[in-house]
Amino acid sequence: MNVPNSGVRRIRKAVFPVAGLGTRFLPATKASPKEMLPVVDKPLVQYAVEEAVAAGVEVMVFVNGRNKRAIPDHFDKAYELERELEARGKQKLLDIVRGIVPENVTCVYIRQPAALGLGHAVLCAQPVIGNDPFAVLLADDLLDGRDKPVLAQMCDTYAEYGASILAVEQVPTSHTDQYGIVQLGKKPGKVAEIEGMVEKPKPEVAPSNLAVVGRYVLTPRIFELIRELPRGAGGEYQLTDAIAGLLPYEKVFAYQFDGKRYDCGSKLGYLQANVEYALRHPDVADDFRAYLQQAVEEGLLETPA
Ligand code: UTP
Repeated sequence: MNVPNSGVRRIRKAVFPVAGLGTRFLPATKASPKEMLPVVDKPLVQYAVEEAVAAGVEVMVFVNGRNKRAIPDHFDKAYELERELEARGKQKLLDIVRGIVPENVTCVYIRQPAALGLGHAVLCAQPVIGNDPFAVLLADDLLDGRDKPVLAQMCDTYAEYGASILAVEQVPTSHTDQYGIVQLGKKPGKVAEIEGMVEKPKPEVAPSNLAVVGRYVLTPRIFELIRELPRGAGGEYQLTDAIAGLLPYEKVFAYQFDGKRYDCGSKLGYLQANVEYALRHPDVADDFRAYLQQAVEEGLLETPA
């Protein structure tokens, strides 16, 4: 066990890059960001904000692109709606709407002028982050940390190690070309030092099957490295390439989190999240379970002829 590092600053700021084109969800994402897609009744971005709040984050920095209005509107005060709900005596709904952003939390919105990649989106947040360590949450990765939200797990790990922490999980070897893949040092484990990183390697050249997923705790030196990047895979500035550039200067750790990830940037992962969250949602769980059982009995899961 490492001795807690008392000189380490607390993570108070988080960046939410929400400026991607979301092409895998067209036409749903034509006029609205994919991070506004709901899982049961809550948009993906709100799950991520709640995870950040649970980790003690107080400044939420959204990097917006085109279709920029839906997210600020969602986290803004909705006077008319609140008045209507009040007039109709819908107190429970009023509390839900009013409680979306806790009072001690500030939301900041920055425009990414063009979708030039995740690295570029993170760089857009530099004027607000300044010289502080910070978190990055990709809301289309929905992480169910079960006992403790995943970002809180990572902030604890950061407090102990005082270095950048990347959430990783094992993926099937055939899927390495969809992720940033890490190469670990000699002491693998739940928290392990990273020796190298490759963006989307083919299975035959992948250094491991540990993929970086959408949660990061980063030190501010990352901004210098993003600035120095040439355009990477797909003509974009890749955050993975900048983190690989950080390795000669600072230690970076891979953290195998406790919990389950739903890849809500893909249709299948999004549907899985909806089914599993619905089965736990107090409003619909019982009826939905009964529906699924009935659907199986009626042969809905059989392959159509
Ligand atoms: P993705 O790689 O999932 O890309 O971005 P995408 O454009 O959103 O979706 P597809 O692949 O076309 O369906 C990962 C995260 O980085 C953000 C996205 O909003 C998402 O949260 N992002 C990506 C930006 O904010 N800006 C960019 O230029 C690219």
